[in-house]
Amino acid sequence: MQGTFYVVGVGPGDPQLMTLKAAAILKKCAVWFVPSAFENGGSMALSIAAGAVSQEGKTILSHRFPMKQVHRGQAPDPEVKSAWQEAAKTIMACLKEGRDVVFPTLGDPAIYSTGFYVCETLQEYGSPFHVEIVPGVSAIGASSAAAAVPLCLGDERLVVIPATFENERIRELLNLCDVAVFMKVHKVMPRLVGLLEELGLADKAVLVERCSLEDQKIWSNVREAVDQEIHYFSTMVVRKG
Ligand SMILES: C[S@@+](CC[C@H](N)C(=O)[O-])C[C@H]1O[C@@H](n2cnc3c(N)ncnc32)[C@H](O)[C@@H]1O
Repeated sequence: MQGTFYVVGVGPGDPQLMTLKAAAILKKCAVWFVPSAFENGGSMALSIAAGAVSQEGKTILSHRFPMKQVHRGQAPDPEVKSAWQEAAKTIMACLKEGRDVVFPTLGDPAIYSTGFYVCETLQEYGSPFHVEIVPGVSAIGASSAAAAVPLCLGDERLVVIPATFENERIRELLNLCDVAVFMKVHKVMPRLVGLLEELGLADKAVLVERCSLEDQKIWSNVREAVDQEIHYFSTMVVRKG
């Protein structure tokens, strides 16, 4: 019988924020297919998973996915596409041997995760396979909790915005919502904070860096973070009201 492919959210960093279901699936799967964004093969998803479930006896297949933007409706960069295809081939080979494969992914699989692209690529190969997606605690909820800032109350509208969007697009989205969560902020802090300043929103923003990890930092004055080396794991919540 063919194995099952599990895409499992492992939360934002603290292994205690992993669900019991995620831990149970990691425990039962002999093959962990771990995404790595780094040349040296280091994987945050793996270190979170291994903080809750022993890696002993597991086959760990580390696969590097290039950190390049994907625009829906447009063909992905060939390097990105080929990383998805290689991953799908390796995973499919394990599934055909009857082995279950788990793909641990940072936060929640539904939010900017490679897991869904890998599923789509597996589907393109046309072979039927079983897939199960297991939700996780996203950096969105975890950052809101760490900063003790609610995401939506009453009839408020929430939007999630990649901070890499151009200013015009961010302005439009900010017009439509009451609360905005900015992800992928680390490289664009001066531009983003400048825009928030212009819109009178800089004082409404809070930045959570390395949320739930030991060195978590909360920047309640986001201006102070502008000329700092902010970590990739940083999320900003802006409550306009
Ligand atoms: C590719 S997205 C992955 C999101 C992830 N699937 C989730 O649900 O949280 C990466 C972005 O998530 C946010 N992020 C991930 N982990 C974080 C953490 N521990 N603290 C703050 N932000 C984090 C950052 O904005 C980062 O740029």
